Amino acid sequence: MHTMHTHKVMDIFARCAEYRAAEEARRGGYYPYFHVLESAPGPEVVIGGKVMLMLASNDYLGLAHDPRVQAAAAHALHHYGTGCCSSRFLAGTLRIHEKLETRLAAFVHKEAALVFSTGMQANLGLISALAHRQDWIFADKLVHASILDGCCLSHARMARFPHNDAASLATLLENMGGDGGALVVIEGVYSMDGDIAPLPALLAAAHAHGARVIVDDAHGIGVLGANGAGTAEELGCLDEVDVVMGTFSKSLAASGGFIAGASKVIDYVRHHARALIFSAALPAPMAAAVITALEIVQQEPARRARLRQVSDLLRTGLQDLGFDVGASVTPIIPVLVGNMERAAALWRTLYLWRTLYARGVFTSLVIPPAVPPGSERLRLSISAIHTDEHIARILEHFAKAGRATHII
Ligand SMILES: Cc1ncc(COP(=O)(O)O)c(C=O)c1O
Repeated sequence: MHTMHTHKVMDIFARCAEYRAAEEARRGGYYPYFHVLESAPGPEVVIGGKVMLMLASNDYLGLAHDPRVQAAAAHALHHYGTGCCSSRFLAGTLRIHEKLETRLAAFVHKEAALVFSTGMQANLGLISALAHRQDWIFADKLVHASILDGCCLSHARMARFPHNDAASLATLLENMGGDGGALVVIEGVYSMDGDIAPLPALLAAAHAHGARVIVDDAHGIGVLGANGAGTAEELGCLDEVDVVMGTFSKSLAASGGFIAGASKVIDYVRHHARALIFSAALPAPMAAAVITALEIVQQEPARRARLRQVSDLLRTGLQDLGFDVGASVTPIIPVLVGNMERAAALWRTLYLWRTLYARGVFTSLVIPPAVPPGSERLRLSISAIHTDEHIARILEHFAKAGRATHII
């Protein structure tokens, strides 16, 4: 008699059952992620019942609690409701989206702009719409995960060049095979290092070979440039950038993302970006908040000046204590400690001391794959509304914790 054997595949949940790293870290008291804020975000927050100085938020200009931004969001909430309940493509495009896009395009000197529901989606949609299988994408070694995922979705051939190295980019373009097009993707301010890309040299190398350039300026918008238009404005090359990409989740104190460029390019992306077409539109309160935040960015340059001052204060203070802050020149300050154990020990000491000292310090522990192995770090990000007194306390904590962990 013939017996039937049912072939059983591996249980795909087995890897979940075997995953113990987070649980072990939680039990060991050094788990650094998903901590719950028991207060509103700001320079001081409550975590685990204790006040902590926040050095892990990207609210660079301190606008998340600005009453003008909140009032604009509240007004839009009452006028338009909570959600759009449709994609931009179908029934989700509101007058306020168009208003925001007009403002954004003018802000970064481009013909047109397009708003996405997150910055991540902006990169996914933009890159995968523009680059196709036969094309090449050249990306800086340190670009953000959302850029890499956008490249994967495009199926284009991809090569990475050493960080900020325009000569290597030129060599790659020189040797590029096939007859596809070339897209260069870089950041203005690098999110984990706080350094600035040499945009004029990179743009010149790309354009000399006919390549087009996307600059993800998530951390430069609102922070750099006379009007806050970002890294390219600061370096005097805004008109040369082919597409500016930015997010609303940092200095614009909301959520969402955008791209800006020539009208024909934006219209093409509007009709080809799956991350736009197959996802619900940005809720109106977010669009309204960003319109007001953009006005403040342009009308209140003093916030940028204060941000620069407070960043310099913290950076030089840390350097004077003997910490390595890499090539940071912006409100993003990495504290480079060389390996996982040392980084976790420093993070944990600063975190646990919230119970010992008034106002502990909350930082981001950054490990691979977010950064290359060997460059594990604490990532600090500072805001224009941190006071000199906050900085003095932060430096006191770092001095004590650095000595306790033998890092300084
Ligand atoms: C450089 C860079 N690009 C894109 C993003 C994604 O932006 P969002 O948080 O709006 O999805 C981020 C933020 O995480 C970023 O740092």
